[in-house]
Order: sequence, then C-alpha cells, then structure tokens
Amino acid sequence: MVGGRTTVLSSVVSSQLVHAEYGGVVPELAAREHMKAIVPVVEAALLQSKVAWSSLSLVAVTHTPGLMGALLVGLPFAKALSHSLGVPLIGVNHLEGHVFALRLENPELEPPFLAAVLSGGHTELLVVEEWCRYRPLGSTIDDACGEAFDKVAKLLGLPYPGGAEVEKLGREGRESIVFPVPDPGGFDFSFSGLKTAVLYHRRDHPDAPRADVAASFQRAAVAAVTSRIEQAVRRTGLRVVGVSGGVAANGFLRERLAELALRHEFRLVIPRPAYCTDNAAMIAAAGTERFARFGPSPLDLPAAARTPLA
Ligand code: KG4
Ligand code: ZN
Repeated sequence: MVGGRTTVLSSVVSSQLVHAEYGGVVPELAAREHMKAIVPVVEAALLQSKVAWSSLSLVAVTHTPGLMGALLVGLPFAKALSHSLGVPLIGVNHLEGHVFALRLENPELEPPFLAAVLSGGHTELLVVEEWCRYRPLGSTIDDACGEAFDKVAKLLGLPYPGGAEVEKLGREGRESIVFPVPDPGGFDFSFSGLKTAVLYHRRDHPDAPRADVAASFQRAAVAAVTSRIEQAVRRTGLRVVGVSGGVAANGFLRERLAELALRHEFRLVIPRPAYCTDNAAMIAAAGTERFARFGPSPLDLPAAARTPLA
C-alpha cells in the first residue's frame, strides 16, 4: 500500500433525472446537466466536509472511459481547479475507481484479489495483482450487466435507470420462467441473448405477470455473474473477491454472492450500495494511490471515451 487509507469527509452525487423521460441517457443532455451541476456539487462537497479550498492538496478526476460530453466538462474543470489552487492533478480510469470503492470501507484490503466490476457500461472480471496493476480475465462480449437490467426494465415499462426498479418488482414475483443463463465460454459474459429472450417472452406471453419476468430475468443475470466468479475462484485459487459497480447494489446478487462465499470459503467484499453506484469518493481513493505511485498527470491529459484497465 502506498496511497493509504481514504477517509470520506463528504460525498455528493448529482443524479440526472432528465434521462428518465427518454428511457436512456441522451449524451447531449448529460453534458448540459454536467455543466449545470459541477460547480454546485463541488461547492456542496467542500461545505459538507468543512475543508477550505486552500487546504486541498490534490485534484482527482475521471478522464476515461465515459461519454465524451461528460468527460469534457469534468476534466477541464478539474484542470482549472488544479491550476488555480496550485495543486497537482491526477486522472483516474473510472473502472479503477470502482475497484478502489472496495477499499473505502475495507482499508486493510490488499491484493492479490479477484474483482468484478458490474456497471451500466462495463462488466469486467479481473485479478488485482497489486493496487493499480490488473490482469483482465474476462468481460462482456455484448451488453453490460447493468445495461441488460436497464433494457429489461424498459421492456417491462419501468423507468430509467431500471436496475433498482427490476429488483423491486422482482421481489414481488416468482422465478417461474426459465431464461437461459448466457455462457459465451471462458471468463467472458454475454447479456444480449438474455435480454432478447425476455423480449420474445413478452411478445409471446403478454399476460405473464411482469413481476415473474423481473424475478426470472434477475435470477438468470445473477447466475451468469456468480458462475463466472465461482469459476475464477476455482481457477485462480484467490481467497478474496470484491464486487462493485452499480449492479453490486442489487440485494439479490449480494445474497447469492454471500452464499457462494460461504460455500467456497472466500472473503467477499462488496461496498455499501452508495459506493457501488457512481460516486466521487472512489475516484478520490484511486487518485490518491495513483498519485503516490506514479506522480501527477500532465495538465494536457486528454479525455478518452474508451481505455481498458491495464
Ligand atoms: O456504476 P454505475 O452507477 O454507473 C456506471 O458506471 O455505469 O452503474 C449503473 C448501472 C445501471 O445500469 C443501473 O441500472 C444498475 O447499475 N443498477 C442496478 C441496481 N442499482 C443500479 N442493477 C441491478 N440492481 C440494482 N439494485
Ligand atoms: Zn460507474
């Protein structure tokens, strides 16, 4: 460990409700909402933490991956802040942020361990060999896990983002429909076939209770995740598994993972739901470690829509 513990003094999240109307994220609107939110959110975070601007010593910011319009609001803002305060800037890969969310409440967590990042845009299984050094095992070959939840939510007439809505509806239903658990082989994931199976089921059985569809879809999606993790634990022999990203907030997934951990005697680390979904505390944690290891990022650090974790 180089960067050390992260004490969260404040964590302010601005969620964009504007997309619900469209059933998905509209990139142009996301960028505009970022513009409106960025100054009030940073001010609120400082206010809550009772830390003065002049006490800041490092500015950490997501520079990849993500929607270009959103990155092009956050990154220049962070650069301007770093320059005007005279403190270093550190660019963070958003996925690395999700990995560091695991350490927020478990400061003693040390690599090597297995990590699964399940978000709206990514589904990654990797070995954290050392902090900031990763060995990818598998990822999705089509839709991300959260994306599948969002698409199924839409098919069921639920609002966007739909993951938590599918979970809520699923709690009232029975797992009576057998949806295939997708298996593209190796450590990879696939969710688009499962989403299509739900689509056909809705078309062919329009009267089937929506709660049963939600519960059955969720069972299959969660089984796809737990089976990969089980396989990776067996293959790597690692005894610590961290699961993060928005989908890790799902109570059903958390229960299944807890059972798996008992059965295979590994230690399971899942952040509290607010640290599973996107938050700035995880970016600060990743940035602190990255800065301690590699020093600051240049002020001309570019934003990039896609960069794998390496
Ligand atoms: O990590 P995250 O907040 O943002 C991205 O980096 O994408 O993940 C958002 C994703 C969305 O697809 C959302 O539907 C899903 O996480 N999600 C959930 C739950 N809460 C959020 N999926 C299933 N169950 C939940 N309770
Ligand atoms: Zn995320």
